[in-house]
Amino acid sequence: MQIIKNIHSWKEIRESLDKKERIGFVPTMGNLHPGHLSLTRASRNENTQTVVSIFVNPTQFNNPDDFTHYPRTLTNDLDLLRNAKVDYCFIPQAETLYPDNYHYQISENLQSIDLEGAYRPGHFTGVLTIVMKLLQIIRPHTAYFGEKDYQQYALIEGMTKAFFIDTTITVCPTIREDSGLAYSSRNNRLSPELRAQAEQFANIFHQGSTCSQIESNLIQAGIEVEYIREKNNRRFAAVYVGGIRLIDNYSLCAL
Ligand code: PAF
Repeated sequence: MQIIKNIHSWKEIRESLDKKERIGFVPTMGNLHPGHLSLTRASRNENTQTVVSIFVNPTQFNNPDDFTHYPRTLTNDLDLLRNAKVDYCFIPQAETLYPDNYHYQISENLQSIDLEGAYRPGHFTGVLTIVMKLLQIIRPHTAYFGEKDYQQYALIEGMTKAFFIDTTITVCPTIREDSGLAYSSRNNRLSPELRAQAEQFANIFHQGSTCSQIESNLIQAGIEVEYIREKNNRRFAAVYVGGIRLIDNYSLCAL
């Protein structure tokens, strides 16, 4: 696996790749888990070259504490990517990705202010802006995102259509631990007691027949609910477990 630390080096590689190559791209913020590895697998199955980026994007953290505490585990991440037979890992610096000091932004003004957007002001503008920059730099044929962040995936897909970007956006199923808890970098911050509560969240969220029933079951289990909502035949949840924010969602069509 080749590690690329600056935009110029990647552009040279990109230019040198044969036109027949198909490039799959998995953008990440590192602290990789089986959910990310399912995306690299999908990319390897469908492309001849797979690029993963690792960049903890400061502009998408509405809570500065979350940015500070985001686990940075580069050595382990690189080992996982090598084992996963990823071809290139792009690890840019914030200064090179934001030469404009974030004065230029990509925002969406309808879906991005609902659900996650309502509770995390500015989050999706940060996400869309960094993903737009990464798509412009990497120029992949296909980019892969997890269903766990469904709203993020839908907004990125909408952005690529709105701006005529030549990248197919593919969504891959949420990968869950045996307990049903969706893999997330935030799970690493859970103590054993909080992990038990997080697993309860996953269970209760998948069992209720209505949102209000789920909400009252969660409250009874001592879990702080931010929202349980249905939208476009999908059920979404955000909760706090010991101050750690967890999200989940699933399609109601499959039920
Ligand atoms: O889902 C993530 O890890 C991030 O939001 C992404 C897409 C890598 C943008 O920073």
